[in-house]
Amino acid sequence: MNLSQIREQFPALSQKVYGKPLVYLDNGATSQKPRQVLDVLQEMQGGLNGNIHRAVHYLSVQSTERYDRARATIRDFINAASVNEVIFTSGTTGSLNLLAFSFGQTYIRPGDRIVITRAEHHSNIVPWQMMCKRTGASLEVWEVEESGAMDPKKLEQILDKQGRKPKLLAIAHISNVLGLVNPLREIIRIAHYYGVPVVVDGAQGIVHKKVDVQDMDADFYVFSGHKLYGPTGTGVLYGKEKYLEEMVPWQGGGDMITKVCLPTGTTYAPLPLKFEAGTANYIGIAGLGAAVEFINNLNSFDIEAHEKEITSNAMKALQEIEGCKIYGIPGTYYGQVYEKAPVFSMSIEGVHPADIAILLDKLGIAARSGMLCAEPLLERYQLTAVLRASFALYNTQEELDFFVESLRKVLKMLR
Ligand SMILES: Cc1ncc(COP(=O)(O)O)c(C=O)c1O
Repeated sequence: MNLSQIREQFPALSQKVYGKPLVYLDNGATSQKPRQVLDVLQEMQGGLNGNIHRAVHYLSVQSTERYDRARATIRDFINAASVNEVIFTSGTTGSLNLLAFSFGQTYIRPGDRIVITRAEHHSNIVPWQMMCKRTGASLEVWEVEESGAMDPKKLEQILDKQGRKPKLLAIAHISNVLGLVNPLREIIRIAHYYGVPVVVDGAQGIVHKKVDVQDMDADFYVFSGHKLYGPTGTGVLYGKEKYLEEMVPWQGGGDMITKVCLPTGTTYAPLPLKFEAGTANYIGIAGLGAAVEFINNLNSFDIEAHEKEITSNAMKALQEIEGCKIYGIPGTYYGQVYEKAPVFSMSIEGVHPADIAILLDKLGIAARSGMLCAEPLLERYQLTAVLRASFALYNTQEELDFFVESLRKVLKMLR
């Protein structure tokens, strides 16, 4: 498959906005969906619709089969050891809130410590703050250096406090602002050396990197379907079975029980259903399964090679723009390679990012401006907003060229 064949699969990409061809560069926020996904949603919403895991009738059996198949597809996709380790949620935020509650209730006691980094999305900060408030634990922050990399010595100083080792480290695979791929194998190795389990926020990572949770040795890996060419309202919580077995469930009701006895004798269902209370978003999850099958079928198209080329060309072109500062500079830091994914946040001297985004929009370019749900990281750089262009597998070199040319044009108008 070549790039124009791939683009043909995404109806949203061929639309015009303000009479101009859409150039969609807000993939970090959400991705467009291929026909394969849209077809599944339509087929199920419009006909093959029966609530799952409940009834013996045809529609229920068909819906259940697709839901269960999606779980097997995602198990393969991330190389989880078992389908029991793949929990369906509403998204990255849903997964992190589930974890913060269930992990917190099970393992966290007053005085315990939790570690996050300054480069986290609010969804990987606020649930931990809420958990700390509930449990009496405290939150510590692994700081980010100017380049966007993080010094492992500083992590070791946080982890190695005699008698008070943290109970958890939560870290993004790829920051939605910096676009740098954190060297997770090394970071997880260090955390495990100190006996600390690691939660990886893979909202951006799953889109741009091949993820193997066993090779990475993540204890938890979470992501959203809608950024991965799948439907909104879908997400995944991968967790090592030993933790999921021990952890108490978050929500109660529906299929997450084996037996309900009054007044207090309820027992919970085995994994993975223990964490899936209520009617699941089974149509969305079937759509997520279709999205992953779509990616799996792109075997003749090297996604990573294409995105690497776009990334290095974009870095070069943007750095040539006067007054443009990019956040998250790829390179080797502390003996580790920090690759860059095609996510470019920038500030431009003397011009507000929102003004640029508004004018780019009029040219048909969807780019993002604002805090990007990462206020503590922006504060680190004394910023209140950035402009972000984030690319997906379907974006072309021509779109990048048009973006850079339009940015130059807009800056001339605004300066
Ligand atoms: C790194 C990161 N974490 C978490 C999230 C939250 O994802 P969602 O809104 O799909 O739950 C995002 C969304 O932009 C993100 O980029």
